[in-house]
Amino acid sequence: MNNVILTGLRANADLTLGNYLGAIVPMVDMARTKADDYRIHMFVPDLHSLTTPITYTELQSQVINNVRIYAAAGLQFDHSNIHIYRQSRISEHSELTWILNCFTGYGEMQRMTEFKDKAANLNENRISVGLFNYPVLMAADILLYDASYVPIGEDQRQHLEFTRDIAQRMNNQFGEIFAVPKSVKEQYAFAGRDSGLRIKDLQDPAKKMSKSDALGKGVIFLGDSPEVAYKKIMSATTDNFAKIANDPIKQPGISNLLDIYTLLGGDATEFIGQTQYGAFKEAVANSVSNFLQAFQVALAAVDDQMIIDKLETSETVMKVLAGQKLHLVQQAVGLRK
Ligand code: TYM
Repeated sequence: MNNVILTGLRANADLTLGNYLGAIVPMVDMARTKADDYRIHMFVPDLHSLTTPITYTELQSQVINNVRIYAAAGLQFDHSNIHIYRQSRISEHSELTWILNCFTGYGEMQRMTEFKDKAANLNENRISVGLFNYPVLMAADILLYDASYVPIGEDQRQHLEFTRDIAQRMNNQFGEIFAVPKSVKEQYAFAGRDSGLRIKDLQDPAKKMSKSDALGKGVIFLGDSPEVAYKKIMSATTDNFAKIANDPIKQPGISNLLDIYTLLGGDATEFIGQTQYGAFKEAVANSVSNFLQAFQVALAAVDDQMIIDKLETSETVMKVLAGQKLHLVQQAVGLRK
């Protein structure tokens, strides 16, 4: 099947509202509307978790919690075209990464802004080679299954472009071994958007809302209590223009709150043009805390046995698909007859 939609979310910490609105909601929506015609892959890139310092003893429970979150967000676990799996359970991801590494330029990886951002937050001796070449593992995740559509937030866009580049490069050299994922523009059109989504940090709206933020004051975590989330929104940085407008350049804080409000189903039009920010902030704070309350109830009701069964079934199917693709690549580069 060449109609594959695929995405992954790292499990190193509690997921954020940015992850939820930027990747989980688009993926769950696509699964709901397209699973009869597309194969849907929603996986946990647990090998990617090792690229930055983590608490290793918590990784197992975080992986399972990620999958619980997919369930609470409404992903249909009982659809036979929807597959949910752990990256590290399918060793072909690592093997294909090695081969792709050998076709990736050092300079290409050096240009990745996500690497530069993450490395800037780390002590020099904690910056691993794994962090440096994590886009190659991401390319392997996508190319192993010939995925066409990869719903991701704006911060992952450069990695998708790299995936297209390396697929084209290898196809030019060896024949059509990989399906090249659709261009970023086609991805947006498919998702019904005109750009990628980037939910900003509430305290510093120049930055993305990120789960690796150490203080977390500007980050809404899906595990935050509704009260804590309410306070975080109320103390979000805005501006002194005294006019509610959607202008991400001049008014990034207010525009970010408008995005959050709209994506959670609110109608922001009544607030546009208002000169006081208080009532609007309160409306956003209420919508975020109501969302979290309902989401956490759904999360607590998820059946763990269903999670384990689904992972194991999907992993068996994926192992076969991944094995076939890896074999093709091994033949192309001369490792197999
Ligand atoms: P990760 O785990 O950092 O983020 C998971 C998804 O959430 C999106 N996202 C956001 N979207 C909008 N606003 C934000 N503030 C925000 N923060 C995060 C990310 O864009 C992403 O879609 N390398 C990937 C995981 C990965 C992957 C893959 C994704 C590994 N292999 C293959 C797709 C296909 C990552 O670290 O995402």
